[in-house]
Amino acid sequence: MSENREHFSSKLGFILAAAGSAVGIGNLVGFPVSATKNGGGAFLLVYALFVAFICLPVMMAEMAMGRNAQKDPLGAYKALAGEKSNWKIAGFLAVLTPFMIAVFYMVITVWIFGYLSQTLFGNLDLLATPSHFDNFINSYTVFGYMAVVVLIVNLILLGGVKQGIEKAAKFLMPALFVMLLVLVGYVLTLDNAMAGVKYYVIPDFSKMNASVLNGALSQAFFSLSLGMGILMTYASYISKKDDIVGSAKMVAITDSLVAFVAGLMVLPAIFSFDPSTDPTKLSDSSVSMIFVYLPKILLALQNDIGYFGASAVAFSFFLLVFFAAITSLVSIVEVPTATLCDRKNISRKKALGILTLATGLLTVLCTMSFGMVDWLTSMTSYGSGSKSFFDIVYDVFYDTILPLNGLMVCLFVMYRWKKARLTAELSQGAPNYAGSLIERYVNFSLSTFIPIILLVIFINTVATKFFNVSLFGF
Ligand code: PHE
Repeated sequence: MSENREHFSSKLGFILAAAGSAVGIGNLVGFPVSATKNGGGAFLLVYALFVAFICLPVMMAEMAMGRNAQKDPLGAYKALAGEKSNWKIAGFLAVLTPFMIAVFYMVITVWIFGYLSQTLFGNLDLLATPSHFDNFINSYTVFGYMAVVVLIVNLILLGGVKQGIEKAAKFLMPALFVMLLVLVGYVLTLDNAMAGVKYYVIPDFSKMNASVLNGALSQAFFSLSLGMGILMTYASYISKKDDIVGSAKMVAITDSLVAFVAGLMVLPAIFSFDPSTDPTKLSDSSVSMIFVYLPKILLALQNDIGYFGASAVAFSFFLLVFFAAITSLVSIVEVPTATLCDRKNISRKKALGILTLATGLLTVLCTMSFGMVDWLTSMTSYGSGSKSFFDIVYDVFYDTILPLNGLMVCLFVMYRWKKARLTAELSQGAPNYAGSLIERYVNFSLSTFIPIILLVIFINTVATKFFNVSLFGF
């Protein structure tokens, strides 16, 4: 089977596709805002340390498993542990998680696409009215936008690895970098922009506490697309000659750099809009930032550059976020797609058809859980109170299972697959890896403190989310 497996045409294609997965909605708005609220430069520093010393080893382990097995995540666990082994449960989770996260990510991508289209139609003033977001997400037009997003994702994935995923990443990622830089360049010329930059980069270590550290690590983990089977799947499409160690570093650097640079766009814009902004009062949620707060700021630019100019900036901003979201969505839907193709021996077309129906149905249910349908809106109640279907998907899969999947990868690679095999795999394409300091660090960290940290995060999340008990005073 592996001889027939389609591969990325080059290491660059793989890096761009993996970076495309990693760079997402979280980087562009979520990261800058939580950095500013949680100690500016101090947060940036801690985040960078987490990426380098905790996330990078996990990323290499995921990639090594995928490339070695040349299979989807479920197939990889089965191939490396044996068909009968219970490790296949970890494999199931590594496929179920992206399937469910795809559902909630799809909902948000559809809203982005809706806002993008509305700015194109000249309706930025409408987007900036306070009640618009609630009305929009509960209107049936979202289903129209959903149909278009589903079509775009399917068209990319139907093209396969080279002609679909890689080609899209090679166009969308450079376009994203250019748009980001142009927007940053523009925003930095606004009055008061520097006040925002200062808040963003000047460190305030007094804000650091256990909760901020936990948040920073979860954010880094999610941002690098770890624990979702994505990197395992993408790495199953690279050849033994390619350098995983170097590629993983490039993906982590690109992702973190985009997140950092996005802060130079978002914060100056906020401070220019309202110089008296108290950053601690900014909303934690990316959703309310993107859909409620930022449209107001974008509209206010009309005082400087007129309504058309403001609409053009808003359009570029939403297009940037949309590109970031599409490459992430493609990567996440690819996991169950690859699994269906590999496990059931069916064509991509058929697999995508099945998945479109399955994710489509769940996405529709999620979309209707913001007030459209009562039983979906208040489906159950746990932890902090009443939860919608969307909340459940988010809490269970994004918040809880993601670190658990990371934990499984560490334990599996270190104690079942074993260090020597990991080193052998990572040395292919990176001949200096064996015996290097990095190798020693990766093996040590993955077998000791990284799984412990992930376990603590998992337990703490379960306790706080579902039982309202805070274990560490956060
Ligand atoms: N890294 C993405 C982000 O920052 C997260 C993600 C990746 C979500 C892939 C879904 C699919 O938004």
